Amino acid sequence: MKQEKARYIKAPVFAVAPMIDWTDRHCRFLHRQLSKRALLYTEMVVADAIIFGPREKLLSHSAAEHPVALQLGGSDAAKLSDAVRIAADYGYDEINLNVGCPSDRVQSGTFGACLMRDATHVADLVTAMKRVSTVPVTVKCRIGVDDQEPAQVLPDFLARMIGAGADAIWIHARKAWLQGLSPKENREIPPLDYDLVYAMKRENPDVFMGINGGIADLEQAARHLSHVDGVMLGRAAYHNTGLLAGVDAFLAGAGPAGATTPDVDWLALRDTMMDYAAELVDRGGRLHHVTRHMVGLFQGFAGARRFRQILSTDAARPGAGPEVIAAAFAAVDIDGGPRVQPEEQKLAG
Ligand SMILES: Cc1cc2nc3c(=O)[nH]c(=O)nc-3n(C[C@H](O)[C@H](O)[C@H](O)COP(=O)(O)O)c2cc1C
Repeated sequence: MKQEKARYIKAPVFAVAPMIDWTDRHCRFLHRQLSKRALLYTEMVVADAIIFGPREKLLSHSAAEHPVALQLGGSDAAKLSDAVRIAADYGYDEINLNVGCPSDRVQSGTFGACLMRDATHVADLVTAMKRVSTVPVTVKCRIGVDDQEPAQVLPDFLARMIGAGADAIWIHARKAWLQGLSPKENREIPPLDYDLVYAMKRENPDVFMGINGGIADLEQAARHLSHVDGVMLGRAAYHNTGLLAGVDAFLAGAGPAGATTPDVDWLALRDTMMDYAAELVDRGGRLHHVTRHMVGLFQGFAGARRFRQILSTDAARPGAGPEVIAAAFAAVDIDGGPRVQPEEQKLAG
């Protein structure tokens, strides 16, 4: 087991969660400008889509994004193996299996969170993926589904993942209710049980275990990291993108306080994103596909509202070019820095 652990990135790890429609390649490129060390996850890509669909569109990404993990959805060992083999040409640093997504679409393919009910089958999937993968194979799961008792089912589920050779396990610390709750509600309503995840880590000291769910900032991340090997942030990282600028200092030991006012070269970021967007527009892409991920950059700064407005309206106009990014940055009092905490700002409307 020690050997398996050594294959994975050295703890502590800060990851940005896989999020469909959000963590696409443009989003990951932006996030990478803010943190060199954060582990970035793709959106979930279904194995069938890789095998039968537009794989170049689904898998291609910028070399700048590394380290980047590809999340796969599927429940068929042969198809998942094929998808892993195909993805190998694209150079992802990790392959992750989705055992946590509760949407109807995912359930109808009998994968995602409903796989929590069949640990033996998931172990077979991991074994099959490991057999053909040249990079670590990891699992992202829930603590249980529906009427399962997490404290009873999770230890066995994890033991099987570990037995199958999973290199790391990321646990979204809440159950999924497969009937009656929407995916959005399933990220909010079932209560979080962090203590159970900490207990799982104590029982498996040699296996990388990371925690996910409801982590709002680097202070909370620091508290989790005294119990587990990694923290994975989804919504907080996406909506308050500037938070990522503190991650490298945080991981280097500056602590959350030392990392909350990072020294960011915002104008260099502006120029990089303008160049990136110009290239995309030249290739026939839309500016908005890049800028929609940037609206959360300046939470708490004076001018943030105008920044968001410019990006959401002007950037969406047909023919919009990278000069819109320059105009949006010009609206922000960058030198003034963040004046209010994002939460306070939200309350202030
Ligand atoms: C818009 C959106 C899309 C998501 N898509 C995925 C996905 O593709 N795969 C996955 O494992 N989880 C997905 N999730 C769940 C997140 O990865 C994460 O587990 C969840 O949001 C809880 O973490 P958070 O409280 O830090 O946001 C998604 C979440 C959101 C908000």
